[in-house]
Amino acid sequence: MQIHNIFPLSIFHDTIELDEEERNNLVKLISNSHNTSTSIHKPENAWTGDIHGHEFLLSKPGFEKIYSLISSKINDYLNMLAINIEKIDLYFQRSWATITKDKQKIQFHTHTQSNISFAYYLLKPKNSGGIIFEMNNTPNSICNNIFAKDKFEKGLIKESNIYNINQAMFDFKQDSIVIFPSQTRHATMVNESGQTRISLSGDISLMLKDSSGFEHIMPNFKHWQKIQKPK
Ligand SMILES: [Fe+2]
Repeated sequence: MQIHNIFPLSIFHDTIELDEEERNNLVKLISNSHNTSTSIHKPENAWTGDIHGHEFLLSKPGFEKIYSLISSKINDYLNMLAINIEKIDLYFQRSWATITKDKQKIQFHTHTQSNISFAYYLLKPKNSGGIIFEMNNTPNSICNNIFAKDKFEKGLIKESNIYNINQAMFDFKQDSIVIFPSQTRHATMVNESGQTRISLSGDISLMLKDSSGFEHIMPNFKHWQKIQKPK
């Protein structure tokens, strides 16, 4: 018997090494944005700047260097997928910090309004929480949600193996950047470090420079036409 595993989900992982002065400056800027935050979140959840009025971080003064370094990694990710960057425009549509204090975590979610998402670990103490990816219905899901956690608990699935696994956890070190398709469900483990974990996250939109002859990829927004409001 032979099994051929096809159609991967690829999680890109690389390193951006910052000097300590740069790291401290970014931590200070992020802490300031946290301190001027407008609303309150549940105590078990991390603070995420995107829903607290700080969703355009990479365009702010002080973030120029990290903006450039992350941009470079996004290009590497597209190169891995063999996407010709000469034919597309890419935009950070939003970018924000997450601050996860001890015993906090980020619940499962997706970034469905976006194409590519990333997380860069600016401060990542040991045991402060890895990132978990999940797919409810993998290509091997012969029934809806057949490999979900409750199917293991009820004994329907006897054991986890590479054919039925639908969750994967990576505990990347500080200075790691992880890039993945925005539609991938993800969460973080609980921060058990007793210290604060800070990441920079962002969503990227991709559009064609020239949409002539293409049907499914987003046309360039410079050609979009605003709907008239009723007079
Ligand atoms: Fe996320």
